[in-house]
Amino acid sequence: MKLPERATICEVGTRDGFQIEPEFIPTELKIEVVDRLSATGMPRIEVTSFVSPKAVPMLRDAEAVMAGIHRRPGTRYSALVPNDKGAVRAVDAGVDDIHTVVSASESHNLANVNMTIGESLGKLEATAQVAHRAGKPVYAGISCSFGCPFEGEVPVARLESVVRRLVDLGAKGIGLADTTGMANPAQVARVLEHLMPRFPGIEWTLHTHDTRAMAIPNILAAMGMGVGHFDASIGGLGGCPFAPGASGNVCTEDLVHCLAAMGVETGIDLDALIETSKRVQQIVGRVLPGQIVKAGTWTRRYPLPDGVRERVPARS
Ligand code: COA
Ligand code: ZN
Repeated sequence: MKLPERATICEVGTRDGFQIEPEFIPTELKIEVVDRLSATGMPRIEVTSFVSPKAVPMLRDAEAVMAGIHRRPGTRYSALVPNDKGAVRAVDAGVDDIHTVVSASESHNLANVNMTIGESLGKLEATAQVAHRAGKPVYAGISCSFGCPFEGEVPVARLESVVRRLVDLGAKGIGLADTTGMANPAQVARVLEHLMPRFPGIEWTLHTHDTRAMAIPNILAAMGMGVGHFDASIGGLGGCPFAPGASGNVCTEDLVHCLAAMGVETGIDLDALIETSKRVQQIVGRVLPGQIVKAGTWTRRYPLPDGVRERVPARS
């Protein structure tokens, strides 16, 4: 298996996760989670989103969260924005990077941001201008890149045309999002094989949801194609309020554990990450989907039962 030496994780739990929590997470707890994530050595954190507080009331405290976090040198802090109004707010709040959102599906884009894809791309042009004036790189995410819960399959030609517009407006990176976990590894490889040679110099990110247990297989497929950036959510939080059936992202500590077991470096302290996940479970008041918190890491060993221990032949 051909593996890279390292991969870069962007933690999105405080955005993709906290946006859909049934109860509002108090601002000071959001700040605590971001600070704990920073302390694990997380290289990138999508802290929050600057969207309409009517659309996503759970993240209405975006400014206060950005103002309250402790900025660790070595972590880049970003936020999701759907339009130039969001970009102005994000820049004023001091983000390092701007993450934009548009969908490859007309139906999902209308449900999510109340605009056609064309209208969204117009807003994102203004968004990019705000970001570039402020010297902030733009990373453009594309929801439903591999399938839409309303429309089904998304033709790769449509995805490519959205990527083209985003690259033309100066995006440094493109994030392909599998918003409702419809992608499979063969499809991920096929789509990347089509897109990557057409857009040289673009940094590709895969944003997965584990709705159908294909998130890590999809990440491995993308890694095999040379993708080195992955979004993930602590504990496996996450889900889009405007995509029926959406559930959590790939779980950060499960992904970091998988990569570490294979010798792929992330720069993240796995033990600290597991402790952070336990704290997030306390905060949200329920058990999260992550497996490693329950199973322990692959280095865990159990004592042999009595009567068996004595009969195990000595290892030569
Ligand atoms: N931040 C704060 N307020 C915003 C905003 C932003 N980025 N963009 C628009 N608004 C406000 C407008 O000022 C206006 O306020 P008013 O009613 O007090 O005058 C109101 O929202 C409606 O503005 P409009 O441009 O007509 O937007 P809309 O109602 O068509 O909604 C979006 C469009 C994009 C703002 C909204 O759908 C949204 O924020 N969606 C976010 C979706 C999301 O986060 N999904 C999950 C992540 S993928
Ligand atoms: Zn998502």
